[in-house]
Amino acid sequence: MSSLESIYSASARHYDGVYASYKLDDLPFYLELAARHGGPILELGAGTGRVTIPLARAGHQVTALDINPAMLSQLDTKLAQEPSDVRARVSTVIGSMVDFKLEQRFSMILMPFRGFQHLLDPADQRACLKNLAAHLADEGRYVFDAYNPNFEFLVKKAGLGGAFVPDLEYVDADGNTVRRFNSITPHFPTQCSTVLFRYETSDSAGRLLQIEVDRIHMRWQSRWEAQYLLELSGLEVEAAYGGFDRRSLDVPGTELIYVCRRAG
Ligand SMILES: C[S@@+](CC[C@H](N)C(=O)[O-])C[C@H]1O[C@@H](n2cnc3c(N)ncnc32)[C@H](O)[C@@H]1O
Repeated sequence: MSSLESIYSASARHYDGVYASYKLDDLPFYLELAARHGGPILELGAGTGRVTIPLARAGHQVTALDINPAMLSQLDTKLAQEPSDVRARVSTVIGSMVDFKLEQRFSMILMPFRGFQHLLDPADQRACLKNLAAHLADEGRYVFDAYNPNFEFLVKKAGLGGAFVPDLEYVDADGNTVRRFNSITPHFPTQCSTVLFRYETSDSAGRLLQIEVDRIHMRWQSRWEAQYLLELSGLEVEAAYGGFDRRSLDVPGTELIYVCRRAG
């Protein structure tokens, strides 16, 4: 198993618990776009199905692709609890967003919660975008979402020298408390951050049961780098936002969101 496939080995188990408390605000945005453009939808880096399942519940056919079998296995477990019509609308594929080949074109291609940033190599980034553009229907839309780098924040993180800081906590299905700590080390020449997640699981008496650590590398792009990358990969930017509330990229925000269609 490559390092990419194993990066979320602990996080796969904790992902939904952690992000339920983090309250990502992207779902209404994706549901609204899906209602406008319809399916079939391809979700690249679908993970545990946080977005996949609500899209399927809303009546859309979704192909959920991910490189990490542990994440897709969480999706399958959740899907098994859905009504049969929802289950029938989702198909899962283990594969890479860089070189997947599907015998279908899609009305929407999504990559929610910054999945593109797992691609560290510029050649992989270009291959991924060209590949997904080839899988877009003529009137289809692709939504790019990535972190909008805040350099003051990154410089502060660099100053911490890799120290762990408390991040989030949740109570798991066994009633144990899981505390997540993160360590973010930016490397400015390569535009990459090494992110360590440490999960500490304690029982109701406060006894520490387990410590797990995941290491993830993520590459950031500036606003214009992202836009040029999309445009040079056969995509035309139709709308650009700095957040899921559709704020402009000219005001402070955490996201770089581009809604694109095939160029020409
Ligand atoms: C931050 S998670 C996002 C999961 C989900 N889309 C969500 O919004 O909750 C990023 C996902 O991208 C997947 N991933 C990373 N590199 C990938 C690649 N090359 N091809 C496909 N999936 C990849 C990871 O396994 C992980 O599940």
